[in-house]
Amino acid sequence: MNHPISSPTPVFTPNGNDRDFLADFAALSDFGATPGGGVERQAATAADGEQRAWLHEWLTSRGFEVHYDNVGNQFGLFTINPGAPYVLSGSHLDSQPLGGRYDGAYGVLASAHAAHRAVRHWAGSESRPRYNVAVVNWFNEEGSRFKPSMMGSSVFTGKLPVGTALATADPAGTTVETALREIGTIGDFEGPDVAAYAEIHIEQGRGLEHDNTAIGLVESTWAARKYQVVVRGEQSHTGSTIMADRRDALLGASLLVVAVRELAEQSTDVPLHTSVSEMTILPNSPVVVAREVHLHVDLRSPDEALLDAAAKKLVESIPGIEERASVSIEQVQTHGWGVAPFPTAGVELAAEAADKLGLSHQNVMTVAGHDSVNMKDVAPSVMLFVPSVEGISHNEGEFTHDRDVCAGTDLLTEVLSRLMSGALDHST
Ligand code: GLV
Ligand code: MN
Ligand code: MN
Repeated sequence: MNHPISSPTPVFTPNGNDRDFLADFAALSDFGATPGGGVERQAATAADGEQRAWLHEWLTSRGFEVHYDNVGNQFGLFTINPGAPYVLSGSHLDSQPLGGRYDGAYGVLASAHAAHRAVRHWAGSESRPRYNVAVVNWFNEEGSRFKPSMMGSSVFTGKLPVGTALATADPAGTTVETALREIGTIGDFEGPDVAAYAEIHIEQGRGLEHDNTAIGLVESTWAARKYQVVVRGEQSHTGSTIMADRRDALLGASLLVVAVRELAEQSTDVPLHTSVSEMTILPNSPVVVAREVHLHVDLRSPDEALLDAAAKKLVESIPGIEERASVSIEQVQTHGWGVAPFPTAGVELAAEAADKLGLSHQNVMTVAGHDSVNMKDVAPSVMLFVPSVEGISHNEGEFTHDRDVCAGTDLLTEVLSRLMSGALDHST
């Protein structure tokens, strides 16, 4: 690993706000805590329900009104100017299986603290803000139990019909609607009128840590394409079926896994990240050649044309795999997004706020998807990153230093206060 040669990190001495934040973050990290130091609280599981109840109480005890919309997005509204729109800030509390404590949860808690501090800031000021402030915990950002990812914000922004989301089933056959009713966090709130959106998240990469920079200002997204692939063969006996007769769906799937990896290996100039991330084998039995395999393929790049070329190459590799394994393969794109900018005015606003607080910053792209990727298409949006140690992500070992999470929350407070004054009006 390439570590910068840098001066020793100064000792971090938390102030009162920092201590409050860190204590709440420790409390939140107890929900679904795993022995390896991470969390397991996939969307609409019991652990997700418990942390939602905790956030509900945190918000209402500080004067926020909590509401749930028809896909389980959890909103906490603080109204200063009745009738005025809201500056919305949030992320997601759901996690991956054996996920990290910071992914999403940091952004929701930072939003709650920052919104609360911004309210206090305005209460102590002679003027009133133009906009109110609201916190959001988006439903099912991770897309692990229920596909696709970013489900709650996709429904909120009109990209996914609510009926499709509610009817989506997990591998055990439980639908989103049933699971949300079980944890009691589905309602009929239509959502606040959003004047601007802000989100803070861990970087999930090594860039900021490597460059010894406190804050990443997200200026655009990588593109992503996700596919559901079904490989069909024929079920038979692993011992008695002669090799020439086999139509082994798992062999076809394995060749596809290698083909997906080779796409990335062949892209030497521009980054291309590729994975087969999920596989379901039928019947998955020791003495049976598999009849069917379902795979999830995930391709990402900062160059959309390269991504499209890679996707085309993958399609072109399919006939050879079908022939070699005597199988048939069907591939459907299920989710994706393009390389798209965040508003420059939002990046500038955040840069000025970081300068005011003496925080180093640099412009970055986001490789991972975030709810802000949806929100930026319907409201002026600001996306901020704090460093991730070693870039570890979707792993129990995910870690961000206390000084960085606290600095990010300070910055988000400043950004929300500015957005509440209407700083991004007329920016799109
Ligand atoms: C969502 O988090 C994604 O990166 O797909
Ligand atoms: Mn996340
Ligand atoms: Mn994630």
